[in-house]
Amino acid sequence: MRVGIGFDIHRLIASQESAGIPLGGIRVPCQWEVQAHSDGDVLLHALTDACFGALSLGDIGEWFPDSDATNRNRRSTEFVKVALSQLAKRGFRVSQLDSIVYLEKPKLGSYREAIRASLAGLLELEPCRIGVKAKTMEGLGPIGEAKAIAAHVIITVEPNSDDQTHQ
Ligand code: C5P
Ligand code: MG
Repeated sequence: MRVGIGFDIHRLIASQESAGIPLGGIRVPCQWEVQAHSDGDVLLHALTDACFGALSLGDIGEWFPDSDATNRNRRSTEFVKVALSQLAKRGFRVSQLDSIVYLEKPKLGSYREAIRASLAGLLELEPCRIGVKAKTMEGLGPIGEAKAIAAHVIITVEPNSDDQTHQ
């Protein structure tokens, strides 16, 4: 078994017309929007890095440089899919995920199951293997002032039982 860890943070800006914050592949309605080069899904970006990290394959910025115009406004689910295909190529799959989203508002409780289901679909895992937790920063710092959203993801990665090509 191997483990991978990922972190990401994005700036939030107040917006009357916000379509919501992208989080784990769903949209959480709120009065902010994320400022980002891609769609700015911190949970999926942290997951992408966790996947690359688990097999020491570098990081999201190396695989998808923000200097590359083709990455502009790219859906973060694509980043995850590329990372997963790199794991699969080496005979590995994600077997568990736990995460923390750092967000002052809104409360994520009512979106947790939708986020877990979305991550479960992406990772082809049962939702009981996916943890999604949320924390405020108690008003402290940029996240506490609702100027940013961040996420930590940790995953375990195991050899595919039907594929012995792992290194
Ligand atoms: O940050 P704090 O410890 O006050 O959070 C208490 C609880 O509120 C968390 O354990 C979580 O269940 C919930 N929470 C949430 N959405 C957030 C922040 C916290 O659902 N954005
Ligand atoms: Mg607390």
